[in-house]
Amino acid sequence: MNSKIAGVGYYVPEKIVTNNDLKQYMDTTDEWIQERTGIRERRYAEKHKETATTMATEAAIKAIDNAGISKEDIDFIIFATISPDYYFPGCGVLLQRELGITKSTIGALDVRNQCSGFVYALSVADKFVKTGTYKNILVVGSEMHSMGLDYSTRGRGVSVIFGDGAGAVIVQPTEDESKGILTTHLHSDGTFAEELALINPGCHGGYHDEDKEKYGFVSPEIPGEIFVTQAMIDNHLLYPYMNGQLVFKNAIVRFKEVIMEALETAQLKPEDLDMFIPHQANLRISQYIQKTMGLSDDQVYNNIQKYGNTTAASIPIALAEACGEGKVKEGDLVCLAAFGSGFTWGSALIRW
Ligand code: ACO
Repeated sequence: MNSKIAGVGYYVPEKIVTNNDLKQYMDTTDEWIQERTGIRERRYAEKHKETATTMATEAAIKAIDNAGISKEDIDFIIFATISPDYYFPGCGVLLQRELGITKSTIGALDVRNQCSGFVYALSVADKFVKTGTYKNILVVGSEMHSMGLDYSTRGRGVSVIFGDGAGAVIVQPTEDESKGILTTHLHSDGTFAEELALINPGCHGGYHDEDKEKYGFVSPEIPGEIFVTQAMIDNHLLYPYMNGQLVFKNAIVRFKEVIMEALETAQLKPEDLDMFIPHQANLRISQYIQKTMGLSDDQVYNNIQKYGNTTAASIPIALAEACGEGKVKEGDLVCLAAFGSGFTWGSALIRW
């Protein structure tokens, strides 16, 4: 049995935040942001109303409708996010409840592989379908970054990049061997785990003296205060850290490697691709890959200009948008690829 993407959907919040809008919080310019990242604007969810789960629900309803099934047909949920509603339980069960799939006790799996989260989740779904375990898997990537970034000038190198949104797909079996998910490839290298990370809160306990200076770890007086300490709050240590240049250097190498791995496995070449949909990390990364792989403009889909980097949501949002615009058609060869924190990276090659 082969597996295919039978339906797609996405949701982005209504509120548009331009680069100039960010100037009220930090010392930045539209020119700096566009030149380094390509981003013009991003969407921010409505605080106290929207969450990663509510946005995922909107995207899931569209994907279910697009696949021509009903929510009762869903037999497994895989939810990728790094900005969950709660530390635990994960968003998978919240999405199940929000969709009202309460009569059947289907499984819900949470994936936290950051920017590669959707490709990891899709790969898991592909294997479950190919082994005949499930028939209608709902795979979602959803992020609400706007609630957890440092909007002062101190955090501007990170906060200007990210936006909110959700994307979803339905993965189903197909007997047509020429179509569907041809191959998926997953990789990681923990060497640089802390170079793109949200270090706090965590159970590391702050006892690593050698790391104190670099990551701002603090040693709490009372064991119970290890998870979140007042010092973490006072010293602004509850925000993501990114070594931007190191990420850039690794991303451009790994992206190309993992795309070529997928193409070579399927005995295909870059010129065979109809559409390459990269994780929307940074327009400069996408453009570098496009150039080094010799791809034309109409072989690559980018929408980071409008939505910023939405981590696990970026690929399913871009895929659903590209399908809606008629840029992904039946029979097309589509490659999805991602790189991000961990570092983790992966690809999926699909005959649509
Ligand atoms: N507005 C204005 N100035 C800024 C901003 C901002 N938003 N952010 C940083 N600066 C300043 C810095 O303070 C610094 O000033 P200084 O020279 O006076 O010290 C200057 O700009 C250069 O800062 P760098 O951090 O060296 O800027 P760099 O050229 O590396 O660009 C960037 C930063 C865009 C993040 C770049 O490193 C990059 O593209 N990295 C790739 C990482 C990435 O895209 N990550 C996306 C998320 S992770 C993922 O999805 C895989």
